Amino acid sequence: MSATLLDGKAFAATLRSKVSEHVSGLKETHGITPGLAVVLVGEDPASEVYVRNKARQTVETGMQSFEHRLPAETSEADLLVLIDQLNTDPAVHGILVQLPLPGHMNADLVINAIEPAKDVDGFHISNVGLLGTGQKAMVPCTPLGCLMLLRDHFGSLSGLNAVVVGRSNIVGKPMAQLLLGDSCTVTIAHSRTKGIEALCRSADILVAAVGRPEMIKGDWIKSGATVIDVGINRIDAPEKALREDGTVKTRLVGDVDFDSAVQIAGAITPVPGGVGPMTIACLLANTVTACCRANG
Ligand code: GUN
Repeated sequence: MSATLLDGKAFAATLRSKVSEHVSGLKETHGITPGLAVVLVGEDPASEVYVRNKARQTVETGMQSFEHRLPAETSEADLLVLIDQLNTDPAVHGILVQLPLPGHMNADLVINAIEPAKDVDGFHISNVGLLGTGQKAMVPCTPLGCLMLLRDHFGSLSGLNAVVVGRSNIVGKPMAQLLLGDSCTVTIAHSRTKGIEALCRSADILVAAVGRPEMIKGDWIKSGATVIDVGINRIDAPEKALREDGTVKTRLVGDVDFDSAVQIAGAITPVPGGVGPMTIACLLANTVTACCRANG
């Protein structure tokens, strides 16, 4: 038997068209165009790709995109000055500082300098606290996208056993809070967890967010479980095929060993085309939310 594929690509396209409609409505009724500022410090190639995609999709959905690219040696003080300007700019409704930041910067300090109402990443300590206490928060985009896929698949998540593998502030911890908010019984597993395979096998919902290629095998999964694979890992193609320029071809894989997992799970997100596209779509949705809240 083969699992149902949870099509994040299609879901994200639908979400983006809803965002576009909402943006048009805001323009017509209030004369407001939501604006998203994205700040990239340095030249990390993966971050460059993410930032370019975010800016493109922001414009495609009818919003204003403000890109700020700063050299890697920018001082923390200068970055804080920019954040302050964006905090008070009425055309900017959402601010995202792409992570990771260069090593000389204190990421917590930088994130907490963002006005919480404009923190479309949901990383500011105020938003973390609001989410943890079940109050209206800006919710981190990747876990929000996972939750949307799960709600769409299940309807209600109430009473289901969820295991989140990974304890990052960006995905693992907020994912656990969201699942708890939807009345799941939630366990967070990580690199020190004892008996992790058996724990994963107890899950009705298994969320993999560890950043280790294909770590979770089919025999870690309960028959019929729903598997959400947050991992985006680039590995050498199995046959080590070479491109024309002599470099080794690569392929994207998740944190789940898809070929074995798809035989056991009831539903699974593919990589690519699962969780990945949901993250930017949720960022756009969060920007519209921030704009609406700022304008009553
Ligand atoms: N780097 C990797 N993922 C993210 C994200 O969701 N937000 C930001 N700001 N940086 C990231």
